[in-house]
Amino acid sequence: MSTIPATTSGSSRPQAPEKAWWKEASVYQIYPASFNDSDGDGLGDIPGIIQKVDYLGALGVDVVWLCPVYESPQIDMGYDVSDYRSIHAPYGTVEDVDRLIAALHERRMRLVMDLVVNHTSDQHVWFRESRSSLSNPKRDWYIWKKPRWDAAGNRLPPNNWASVFGGSAWSWDETTGEYYLHLFCKEQPDLNWENPDVVQAVHDIMTFWLDKGVDGFRMDVINFISKSPGLPDAPLKLPGQEFQPGDLHYANGPRLHEFLRGLREVLDRYDAFAIGEMPCVKEEQDVLMAVAADRKELNMIFQFDIVSIDIGSGGKFTSKTWSLAKMKAIVNKWQTCMYDNNGWNALFLENHDQSRSVSRFTPHRPENRTAAAKMLATFLALQSGTVFVYQGQELGMANLPREWPIDEYKDVETLNLYRLAMQQHRGDSEAVEQLMDQVRLKARDHSRSPMQWNAQQHGGFTTGTPWVRANDADYMHCNAEQQLRDPTSVLAYWRQLLRLRKQNVDVFVYGRFELLAAADPSLFCYRRIDPSGYGVATLVLNFTDCEYEWQVPPAEVVEALTAARCVLGNYEPPAELNGDGSMRLKPFEALVILELEDLYEGA
Ligand code: NOJ
Repeated sequence: MSTIPATTSGSSRPQAPEKAWWKEASVYQIYPASFNDSDGDGLGDIPGIIQKVDYLGALGVDVVWLCPVYESPQIDMGYDVSDYRSIHAPYGTVEDVDRLIAALHERRMRLVMDLVVNHTSDQHVWFRESRSSLSNPKRDWYIWKKPRWDAAGNRLPPNNWASVFGGSAWSWDETTGEYYLHLFCKEQPDLNWENPDVVQAVHDIMTFWLDKGVDGFRMDVINFISKSPGLPDAPLKLPGQEFQPGDLHYANGPRLHEFLRGLREVLDRYDAFAIGEMPCVKEEQDVLMAVAADRKELNMIFQFDIVSIDIGSGGKFTSKTWSLAKMKAIVNKWQTCMYDNNGWNALFLENHDQSRSVSRFTPHRPENRTAAAKMLATFLALQSGTVFVYQGQELGMANLPREWPIDEYKDVETLNLYRLAMQQHRGDSEAVEQLMDQVRLKARDHSRSPMQWNAQQHGGFTTGTPWVRANDADYMHCNAEQQLRDPTSVLAYWRQLLRLRKQNVDVFVYGRFELLAAADPSLFCYRRIDPSGYGVATLVLNFTDCEYEWQVPPAEVVEALTAARCVLGNYEPPAELNGDGSMRLKPFEALVILELEDLYEGA
């Protein structure tokens, strides 16, 4: 094989990314309530996670991101923290976290905790004090405002912002006669970051956990912490609705970067890592401002273009048809932009707020679900960026059965948005059915269903009664125990994929991305090219559930298949070039062709 030029244009070659452990890492996200219950109370717990650290080590991940385990009334499953320094009792204790850190570190894995500091629980002592009187020293720790009044003398919230979970973002407090802001549930009041004491308190919480050995944080809605001065009304986006999305005034506000640099100073004392969750950010410049290496803010962010691809303008449970062309445009944009500007991507298709990717992004039938799950895994894990695997994704876990009624859905977002939509659609059965279809496709409940460990009752997640129903139509066929025995399973494939990535970091981690066959409506095809020119990987992914006759594959694919072999694929034998240069790909077929220059050739 000949040495591959690092860029097609030659002179404008961007510098190869600087090496860093967190770029080479893959991260496994644990949703503690649904991962593994060690004591039979129906809720997962930290000792249950410790029982599974060897499973994680064998999967080949390097970091565990643990969703919130702090003391909380659990209105939003722990994203409403009432004490940042203690643990929700059913999950365990602070000492259990110490043990988890030790168990992971012993196996050369790291722990990232969730840092939820845009808001607290309304049960946090800070808020209880804040709401107790206008003169309480903690009053200014939250965002309080006087009401507005309409011409008829009705009291109105201070502005028209909608809560992300529906309704107004403001709640009235009778005791002190003011409204407080909550971008999420009314039980999640927003902290006032304009107050330096709040900023200091957040730094102290981080220090507390970093001193314990935690290796970094995933920062919840971190780009919401700085709001536009005066909290002006949001522009009208949803005609006919009383409350409007206010992200223009609370996402990426004027002091965001100052606050992020403050967080980075704390992290740097420990060489710790930070990934920010940043919804509502679309522009490259806005993302780069937070993640470009010289900015000294975050290592990377979760950007939401892919997981918003099927969301209509009316909100999460409205539909939008998406095309592979759109998906390619999104991937190409972020892959090239981060590479060329010294930023870094976080690669994800699933998390606790998204449904299962195999149900959402592939029109699979039961017989090709395994192929579809492997294809999506390949698509994701070999792009440029740090890979995030959400619990159960490594098994190809799917959404809840279609037949399950709304009563099986427990998430506060699902139920709030469902209730509001039902009021709106009263009596319109077709609209209600369309809504349910969207719930079946995108509700957060799908990913929160118990982890499927084996074929026993409740999928082996608990010996008690699970806090939410396990997917009993599925765990018999899709579970970790069975997949650990099966070398052709989705789990075995993920292990190979993560190993392949790790063994070839110059290509898969530090290589640049190049989209191929951009106009093809069925195939996603890309290359990863080692910046020093010694390796290139070519990926071919059939995103459809049909066989696909590829009459004229691009020259790069033909060349790759002629010069090198397929190192990973989801069919045996993998598709090959026909004599006439065409190829026939099976439903959801994925191929990874790796060409490596023999560095010692001729030495
Ligand atoms: C984002 C979290 O991922 C989600 O689960 C939560 O409901 C909101 N932030 C509010 O904290």
